[in-house]
Amino acid sequence: MAEPDSWEDVEEGGGGASRRSPQTTTSVAAAAGAAKLNADAPAFTFNPSAASFTPFVPAPAAVVYHPVAAGPPPKPHFHDVNASADLHSAHQTPFMSGASALPALAGRNTEPPQETDVASELVVDSSQAPETRDLDVDLKEDAAEEQIPPPAAEEKDAAAPSNGSVEKEENEEVAHEGESKSAEALEADKDDSRQHLNVVFIGHVDAGKSTIGGQILYLSNMVDERTIQKYEREAKEKNRESWYMAYIMDTNEEERAKGKTVEVGRAHFETKKTRFTILDAPGHKNYVPNMISGASQADVGVLVIAARRGEFETGFERGGQTREHAQLAKTLGVSKLLVVVNKMDDPSVQWSKERFDEIEKKIIPFLRSCGYNVKKDVQFLPISGLFGHNMKERMPKTMCDWWDGPCLFEALDSVELPERDPKGPFRMPLIDKYRDMGTVVMGKIESGSVRRGDTLMIMPNKATVKVVTVYRDNDEVNYARPGENLRIRLSGVEEEDISPGFVLSSVRSPIPAVLEFDAQLQILELLDHKAIFTAGYKAVLHIHAVVEECEIMGLLHQIDPKTKRPIRKKILFVKSGAVVVVRLQVNELICVEKFEDFPQLGRFTLRDEGKTVAIGKVVNFPRVAGTQN
Ligand code: GTP
Ligand code: MG
Repeated sequence: MAEPDSWEDVEEGGGGASRRSPQTTTSVAAAAGAAKLNADAPAFTFNPSAASFTPFVPAPAAVVYHPVAAGPPPKPHFHDVNASADLHSAHQTPFMSGASALPALAGRNTEPPQETDVASELVVDSSQAPETRDLDVDLKEDAAEEQIPPPAAEEKDAAAPSNGSVEKEENEEVAHEGESKSAEALEADKDDSRQHLNVVFIGHVDAGKSTIGGQILYLSNMVDERTIQKYEREAKEKNRESWYMAYIMDTNEEERAKGKTVEVGRAHFETKKTRFTILDAPGHKNYVPNMISGASQADVGVLVIAARRGEFETGFERGGQTREHAQLAKTLGVSKLLVVVNKMDDPSVQWSKERFDEIEKKIIPFLRSCGYNVKKDVQFLPISGLFGHNMKERMPKTMCDWWDGPCLFEALDSVELPERDPKGPFRMPLIDKYRDMGTVVMGKIESGSVRRGDTLMIMPNKATVKVVTVYRDNDEVNYARPGENLRIRLSGVEEEDISPGFVLSSVRSPIPAVLEFDAQLQILELLDHKAIFTAGYKAVLHIHAVVEECEIMGLLHQIDPKTKRPIRKKILFVKSGAVVVVRLQVNELICVEKFEDFPQLGRFTLRDEGKTVAIGKVVNFPRVAGTQN
């Protein structure tokens, strides 16, 4: 690798991933139907210290992350946009490949967009995360010193086949449960060899993430003209004329009234080459925990930057979420980044090449410092999310004569991800669950594949379950590969016995469940009043779908950032900027992997009082009483 890239280096070395063959097609195919799976599924509150979710009515109030020191972690929040009632009227006519939908909304709304009022509400966070140092520290020596217990042997192995092999009797049996398609009818699903990409939209508040998400759905015929007109009327009534496109993604009343996303909006669209799950993260810093849970499921990030004079500066130069989001996304495993310079239509920009270049020039060094390989993994492009320009089709030269690069759909379609191993041990962290003719769980497959009829285990509570139905996006399928975002109906477990962060896992090789682990931390900027990082430090741990309070039990050794070697000197505390190996403890069993085995399940962030104070990776499982591996 040409550039120093700590996480990537470890990832590639440890995972041994091979590269997918390049995909270059750019044309856009039919959008899928937006049939809902279960829009009536109840909402749930997440009490991380309780064993289960509690359904509640009415719908949740705004989720505001209260910055209490190591207080109760917030619940992850998602809403499925394709399942929203408003979108049911959307006509599902597939558009022709290459058909001209551009400018889809050009001229629809010629009024200048409203100036942001949310940005002014923000308390500007002037603290900016220091540059991330190279964490590729050779810890092999230390790892060898400590014995790592092997995964617990499973008595059930003989009885329960691991995922991947379907037993006929099981299929017949499960066909009676729920309303599943026949196995034959689902055989064709295997032929859908299109890449599946999970794309998270990140960036400062009001940069235009939801507007772009909405425009994508509109351009791919997931939303019809009538719905758009309705949103225009509603937005006008709320004095938020220019927000009508964002209403497609921002479905709850509070989001629409305030013009800012709270929950991560989730939606699907597809092109000839790729099936996309888009995750629209909130930009406001109060909702960073929600952003983290969205980004933890993504492979690709779209970092949205507002080109409007003053807005880019607020979001990037004077603090703001651009930096924290880009840093967090990298830590959470977002390996590819499209940096979308949005609002190019704004009167203060008018598709100016100088403005685009200025932004690119300022962002590149920062992204490099986050660990992105800027040449290989980052691509910049200008768009107007509001007017749909340079999104589905390239910019007409008459509007912008200097841009020769791709449009957004092309750029998304040509992202290449490392191949995941479909034969690896099955791992699917659960982000949510509900009851619907059985127990339905939601999540993204991080490793292995799943097939209807498989017997799996939910960890850490070791519940053996059977896969009754698999839904990919909103379609029932027979089989799903790593990287897919799924809903799976299970038998053998009650919905109240599952919490987010539990992991649906192979029976033969279940994910380790631990109370303690050793981790290498890069300390970012500590809080002013907690500037010493030492044993006893409490924070909120975010690792895949887990949000848990944790405590530092001890500092094992510090690492010299220059040599990347452990410093053999006893340490009692470290300060901002240090790289240190610590022992970390949680109160409830959580499922994690060593970073070198499963990077996606072994990297995490520590947050304290609403601020990310450290990023880390799991390096070892100590053998201590009370720990189950
Ligand atoms: P949060 O969810 O609060 O983080 O904001 P967001 O990034 O989702 O921004 P949103 O899509 O809600 O848009 C914020 C404002 O920017 C709205 O008034 C949009 O109309 C406006 N906006 C978004 N994209 C564009 C664009 O391409 N051009 C112009 N002129 N305005 C835009
Ligand atoms: Mg938004």
